[in-house]
Amino acid sequence: MENLADRVVMIELDDQVAAVWETILEGDHQQLVDRILSFEISRKAVIDELSQPPKDRDHFAFQTILRNRVQRGGILAPGASLVRNGENGRGVASRWYPQTLARRIEAIAQVRHRIEFYHGNAMDLLPQYLHYKSSAIFIDPPYTAGGKRAGNRLYAQSGLDHERVFDLAARASGSVMMTYDNAPEPRQWALRHRFQVEPVPMSNTHHQTMLELVITN
Ligand SMILES: C[S@@+](CC[C@H](N)C(=O)[O-])C[C@H]1O[C@@H](n2cnc3c(N)ncnc32)[C@H](O)[C@@H]1O
Repeated sequence: MENLADRVVMIELDDQVAAVWETILEGDHQQLVDRILSFEISRKAVIDELSQPPKDRDHFAFQTILRNRVQRGGILAPGASLVRNGENGRGVASRWYPQTLARRIEAIAQVRHRIEFYHGNAMDLLPQYLHYKSSAIFIDPPYTAGGKRAGNRLYAQSGLDHERVFDLAARASGSVMMTYDNAPEPRQWALRHRFQVEPVPMSNTHHQTMLELVITN
């Protein structure tokens, strides 16, 4: 968005998240915006909408955005429940900001010619990009290091081999940045590969400040 890169490659494994990116970058993003702006939110409307099978990929993208906004903590994984009281007691509407979503989607669509999106496993695709000296690789994995972390219930796709992520990142010719939870395992792997580790404050879904690790080469 700030013209820092000529070309951006994004890789995502999750089918729901992928549908959103595919629709914005390659599908009918205008229809997605129209669906967001015309949706009249209520608990009943949300339940009715999300119980329908998606008509097509663009509709699936809309359902994913809605799900992310109305389910507790934005969790897309199966079994997540709807927001009850939400922020300011606005219930399911408490995190539904249609105008903001529409503006962001339109802004991303404007630069879509510079973004390539792959629906697949980053562990398979990443090796192709490791030799670019001028590249910057950002890895924001689900937080499941140590096997007991929040990522297990936040994301449908959480079975990632984190040691392999570090092994691949260590082979990159360009810059690498990764974010991880502040746990002993990522610190150990970072140390083993001589990465730099910087704890930075972040706000979690409960608006509590906690530390996450920013790991760079
Ligand atoms: C912490 S989230 C990233 C959120 C993203 N950076 C953002 O700001 O919206 C981790 C994401 O990694 C995805 N993921 C997990 N394993 C993956 C893999 N092997 N390849 C690609 N994506 C994967 C999950 O589906 C999830 O959407």
